[in-house]
Amino acid sequence: MLINRKEKIRSSEITKESIFRDRRNLVKAGISMGIIPSIITNIISTGHGFPNSGQISNISTWQESSDEKLTPYEHVTNYNNFYEFGTGKDDPAKNAHSLKTRPWSITIDGEVEKKGTFDFEDLVDLNALEERIYRFRCVEAWSMVIPWVGFPLKKLIDYLNPNSNAKYVQFFTLNDPNQMPGVRYRSLQWPYREGLTIEEAINPLSFIAVGVYGEVLPNQNGAPIRLVVPWKYGFKSIKSIVRINFTREMPQTTWKTANYREYGFYSNVNPEVSHPRWSQAYERKIGEGLFSAKVPTQLFNGYQEEVSYLYKNLDLKLNY
Ligand code: MTE
Repeated sequence: MLINRKEKIRSSEITKESIFRDRRNLVKAGISMGIIPSIITNIISTGHGFPNSGQISNISTWQESSDEKLTPYEHVTNYNNFYEFGTGKDDPAKNAHSLKTRPWSITIDGEVEKKGTFDFEDLVDLNALEERIYRFRCVEAWSMVIPWVGFPLKKLIDYLNPNSNAKYVQFFTLNDPNQMPGVRYRSLQWPYREGLTIEEAINPLSFIAVGVYGEVLPNQNGAPIRLVVPWKYGFKSIKSIVRINFTREMPQTTWKTANYREYGFYSNVNPEVSHPRWSQAYERKIGEGLFSAKVPTQLFNGYQEEVSYLYKNLDLKLNY
């Protein structure tokens, strides 16, 4: 019986991944039986606003998600890049508790109709959150497979309604030395900033994440709201966004400003364009052990079918 089987499971075996797998299987079964996913996933009521920790309710599943093995939660949340909290991989998990994620506002400016400062909760439709499992590839030649919760960036852009002069979208992270010990040092240009062409931004894969593994984003992963662009190197996926600026010209980006010979504006995952100091042909999957074999990296991180049209007139070696 189910109950007996449950009793045999030691608590150490009940991981975030197993809870996640069970919930996802239930949702999939529900979909095939015509049951609305929110009935199953509605674990904790969120009240009127977005919860600032714990489980997120009303998540639907994205049918095109990657079916690769997930990177364990422990690695997703403890092996991070978030230089505002230090440059070591374990610094964000140790230090990001000082980030205050409520209230949180986002300023919208530039070539767009709905300018102004919005409460973050007004930009997130709690009834339309999706779970998407994306491959995530860092420029440092490691990768993860992560179940994000959020919504397509296109939805937000449609709502904000940029005008025809808007050719690019630029994003900024909070820059507060009182909450972010890393910005007291000039390890990067602050605030951290990133950008996409408007066509990249409205591609159906570009995603705004507010959660991971069915839960509200931990601070070290970019709470309360971040970008996830799965066909680009991880540094394009800017965290803890406080400003979105629609521009006519290609905007400044933090890593290109730091070293334009090493990091370009496009930053598409491309095994044929080496980083000047190392190859991009292979990647190490985080969470599979130090001695696990490296696997070949795929062009556009495997999302070629969905995104190659964006670059058909670009030389990807010059526009790295
Ligand atoms: N966003 C900000 N604000 N600051 C950062 O240092 N690092 C980038 C990106 N977004 C970074 C950021 C890099 S280099 C990577 S690989 C990803 O975040 C890592 O995301 P993760 O820690 O959730 O895996």
